[in-house]
Amino acid sequence: MLNGPNLNLLGKRENEVYGEFTLQDIENEITKLVEDYGYRLDSKQSNHEGELVDILQAADGEYDGVIFNPAAYTHTSVALHDVIKAISLPVIEVHISNIHSREEFRHKSLLASVCYGQIIGFGKQGYRLAALALLPEQK
Ligand code: DQA
Repeated sequence: MLNGPNLNLLGKRENEVYGEFTLQDIENEITKLVEDYGYRLDSKQSNHEGELVDILQAADGEYDGVIFNPAAYTHTSVALHDVIKAISLPVIEVHISNIHSREEFRHKSLLASVCYGQIIGFGKQGYRLAALALLPEQK
């Protein structure tokens, strides 16, 4: 699981948009979910675009898939588009909020077209739905 900029502030950031839960709460929940299916979760967060690119490059061949909330870089990053296209891992784009009901600059994702799928607007439940979509038993 990979989370982009400012998601380390979950729990104290715009609670009316992002809820009361923390990134640690999500990590705990998704770890437990995937372990019930015999998988392991690694979780990383970075505020830096290049570091997210490095993490995705290094993940290729090491993991079965990526649950990715690219946060603000969703709307700006050609570098993340390119790396998701370059690697062979299924990447699921997750957004806690419904980006389409917010400011216009959030309506466009530069990443959706190269992702395996997109889950938007279901709060932290989106991470759970993404994990279920990646687990083979769910297919
Ligand atoms: C977000 C939506 C993005 O537009 C925003 O920049 C974020 C969080 C979400 O999870 O709803 O930081 O990715």
